[in-house]
Amino acid sequence: MRAVELQDLLAKMTRQEKINQLLQLAAGFYIDLDAVTGPIEEMGLTEEMIDNAGTVLGISGAADVIQTQKKYLAKNRLGIPLIFMADVIHGYKTIFPIPLALGSSWNTALAEETARISALESAVSGLHVTFSPMVDLVRDPRWGRVMESTGEDAFLNAELAKAFVRGYQGTDLTLDVERVAACVKHFAAYGAPVAGREYNTVNMSERQLREAYLPGYQAALNEGAKLVMTAFNTVDGVPATANQWLMRDLLRKEWNFDGVLISDWGAVKELVPHGVASDEKEAAILALKAGVDIEMMTMCYLNHLEDALEAGEIAENLVDEAVLRILNLKNDLGLFENPYRGADVQREQELVLSDAHRESARKAAEESIVLLKNSGILPLASQQKIALIGPGAESKDILGAWSWQGESEKAISLAEGLRKYVPVEQLMIAKGCEVLTAGSQTEVAEALEIAEAADVIILALGENSDMSGEAASRSDIHLPQVQLDLFKQLKKLGKPIVVTLFNGRPLDISELSQSTEVAAIVEAWFPGTEGGNALANILMGAINPSAKLSMSFPYNVGQVPVYYNPDNTGRPEVGRSADEKYVSKYLDIPNEALYPFGFGLSYTSFSYSDLQISTTKLTPSETLKIHVTVKNTGNIIGKEIVQLYIRDVVGEVVRPVKELKGYQKIELAANEEQVITFTLSENELCYVHQDLSFKSDTGEFHVMVGPSSHDDGLLKTSFTFIN
Ligand code: GLC
Repeated sequence: MRAVELQDLLAKMTRQEKINQLLQLAAGFYIDLDAVTGPIEEMGLTEEMIDNAGTVLGISGAADVIQTQKKYLAKNRLGIPLIFMADVIHGYKTIFPIPLALGSSWNTALAEETARISALESAVSGLHVTFSPMVDLVRDPRWGRVMESTGEDAFLNAELAKAFVRGYQGTDLTLDVERVAACVKHFAAYGAPVAGREYNTVNMSERQLREAYLPGYQAALNEGAKLVMTAFNTVDGVPATANQWLMRDLLRKEWNFDGVLISDWGAVKELVPHGVASDEKEAAILALKAGVDIEMMTMCYLNHLEDALEAGEIAENLVDEAVLRILNLKNDLGLFENPYRGADVQREQELVLSDAHRESARKAAEESIVLLKNSGILPLASQQKIALIGPGAESKDILGAWSWQGESEKAISLAEGLRKYVPVEQLMIAKGCEVLTAGSQTEVAEALEIAEAADVIILALGENSDMSGEAASRSDIHLPQVQLDLFKQLKKLGKPIVVTLFNGRPLDISELSQSTEVAAIVEAWFPGTEGGNALANILMGAINPSAKLSMSFPYNVGQVPVYYNPDNTGRPEVGRSADEKYVSKYLDIPNEALYPFGFGLSYTSFSYSDLQISTTKLTPSETLKIHVTVKNTGNIIGKEIVQLYIRDVVGEVVRPVKELKGYQKIELAANEEQVITFTLSENELCYVHQDLSFKSDTGEFHVMVGPSSHDDGLLKTSFTFIN
């Protein structure tokens, strides 16, 4: 439909129809499905309101979508179609590793492919929009939704955000009906709640917001994401959903975003408990003034905008603008011409959870599983007698908290994966305990018995999938005590223990890490539908692990937030003698993370040498070339994520001790070496100044290249940026 026709359509709509278009309802109001992802309250809806809501969330399945759209259109006076939206966060039916795992792959092509497949399965199942990518930067593992993020670094998050948008939307969303529109969320800085407590206040300067937290959202929008979702939290004292500075001044004016802004579930009504709206009418006015187009699952707009308009408390043009943005989105999706878009029962049966998609999910998991410790015991040999113990041994709860349509029963467990390698008489299995409850004496005895008989113990530990995700903050990020108790009993046997982890956040695994009996630690996250196959392929050596953490593992929760790029402070510990008292440090743990950002081991080893830069004096018109030689010094082929960091030694404001500015994931055969080249230009040297301008300073810059953000492994050189 042409723009002028959309204007004509808007002109034909009654005021009530316009206001109704701004409402999003959950599936249950259209078909009998329980699609609750937020506080559904008694909403006092009428049939007419349901028949005229503009969008719906949580309906999928080609037949259901077609039937719902048909019924809806039959009743809609002007024939304006519904948009079908849902949370397809890391897969529709074929579930990929959680985003925090995909973040550890540092593989944007892989991320894009997982999004493309997610979009394909979603679109043939009738969906038009996904509430993804979630690009909230995270530094606090107490917060349960770190599992949904790609991690603690603005640059890596931005690269992956762009890849997800490309995968979801493709290049022509109108014609390619087997893609879906991306909704970047949660705008903004939802990942920084005080104390890691879900939905809590977010306190930070605008400068820090712009420097660390906003780049991911901006990158997704620059890549063409069609929608933005408001965050539940406040930003500098004003809830995002009512924050005119954030939504009008920054998002719409400064960033020029004219797409649809949708509230998170109930976030408009929550302006009342936040304490910025005295009642739902004021909440409606504040949200609309902030430019929120769709109110998800509450009725402030529907129940109060008419009165507000009548009373002149809100201008009619604000309603018109919001409706027009929704009509534009429907038009961009081609829904006026084809209200069923990609919904196709036949294609759905062929494609959803296909073997090819499972293969992609397995590869994604293999590239996302991080080897944190290995004494050399891994990879295992198939003739070894293995005792597979722990709640993760046969668990299929490995899809993660946001796997919506994913079916755990179709996931491959670790035990199933291992059975492909290890003869049944050599693979002994005993759970020993549940995730949160101790095993019976018999169960523990059985675990100890098979451990005694084994050459090696695989101890599969971790969280339930509902211990992370939304509304799942934890103040204590240890593994559950019952699991540590089981570990302590197994440790006494003196057998080598390979710990595998299924979890949705960095955990306090110091005890395991520092135990000599723990010969290896493999972080598998929630690896998705093919998780057990991927993990087994790594444990048995078919796949050489290559992932590196995109979020730091702290020594303990007291160290949180810990991230790789803090400011230096006036009394840095680095360079001071160990016994110097008055420096920025702890008495009981190091300052660095137990396992830092960018860290991950391989079954081979890599050396870094011969760091060269093209000039030691860089001018604004030049590009700095950085060369480093990387060699596979082991005897098997392996992938390495080569990381480039810089440090602006003196800035107008203090600068982080390092910032990721580039990376390359390469594959080298045994003994193969390669010269890796990075380029830097002035743009990478810019940062947000005190006056919020984004610009560079002249002066000295350090260049660091290596296998992780840890200082020990980084080659360093420097240059001066001059005018
Ligand atoms: C939830 C989440 C949001 C999700 C929405 C719809 O509360 O905060 O990420 O997209 O509701 O399910």
